Amino acid sequence: MRQSLYAAVSACALLGALATPAAAKTVKVEMTVKEVELEVDHKGTKQKMWTYGGTIPGPLVRVTEGDTVDFTLINDAANKNSHSMDFHAAIVDVLDEFAEVKPGGTKRFTFEAKYPGVFVYHCGAASMVEHISRGMYGVIIVDPKESFSAAYPKPDREYVLVQGDLFREGTAVDDLLDGKNWIGALINGKVFHYDPVHDPGASQTLQAKPGERVRIYYVNASVNEPVALHPIAGIWDRVYDQGNPKNVVHGAQTFLIPPASGAVFDIVPPAGRATNNAIVDHAMSRALRGAITVLMTNDDADPTLGRGDKLILR
Ligand code: CU
Ligand code: CU
Repeated sequence: MRQSLYAAVSACALLGALATPAAAKTVKVEMTVKEVELEVDHKGTKQKMWTYGGTIPGPLVRVTEGDTVDFTLINDAANKNSHSMDFHAAIVDVLDEFAEVKPGGTKRFTFEAKYPGVFVYHCGAASMVEHISRGMYGVIIVDPKESFSAAYPKPDREYVLVQGDLFREGTAVDDLLDGKNWIGALINGKVFHYDPVHDPGASQTLQAKPGERVRIYYVNASVNEPVALHPIAGIWDRVYDQGNPKNVVHGAQTFLIPPASGAVFDIVPPAGRATNNAIVDHAMSRALRGAITVLMTNDDADPTLGRGDKLILR
């Protein structure tokens, strides 16, 4: 009797240990602002962009709910402008942590990632519309501390897509605010980045095998407009608004993402056949000017894509 009680107690202790979320940790993140020329399409068109680390979007930050982010922003001395960092995953003081840093300066601050989800980060230096439209944005994923469950199943592949605006080079701030001289929608920094159907110069697509659950972290970094995200020839199995597993919508066709927000989209292409989806901002002006991403599903899918460091395809 005593032995079986002991066995039951230790089994409980073991189950308890398995269900205990990983201990919160401190994650160091450092970014250097670089004002650089970048190609914004597959034709080699270049524009003067402002970036975190030299790419659009900036580096993907990924932590777990409860972790502390220890962040340092370095404004390269070669830059001409002040810059800042505004993490939408942070609860701090806009006038303190998010203050501007002059060229040659640095700014360090910490915050606890209290809510799970997919959040944008962006520069808030004046004029913000110019800093964002020149590419100063990126994504922080805060994974839920409960990890996966029936309500939030483990995906087979994960991709990060950020939609932004492309304006004619040299557009004045007042015109940016009014949406004038808007010429295209950027997906991860390029128009039609992953769409060989509308741009034969596109060499990459998202890939998966038939029947796999593909999880897409989609962030809207447009300065004024929402994104109406639809997977042509598919239905979102689930959408997690803000990327929070508690905010689930089932069987969605088109889901609206406001400016400076994000959502997580699960799609499960059919097993047993090769298919293609076109993931599109269903507002036609933005779709046909760059905001289409092809997801190819077949048995030859590259096993490295959508895993490890290939969530943002560069
Ligand atoms: Cu900036
Ligand atoms: Cu913001």
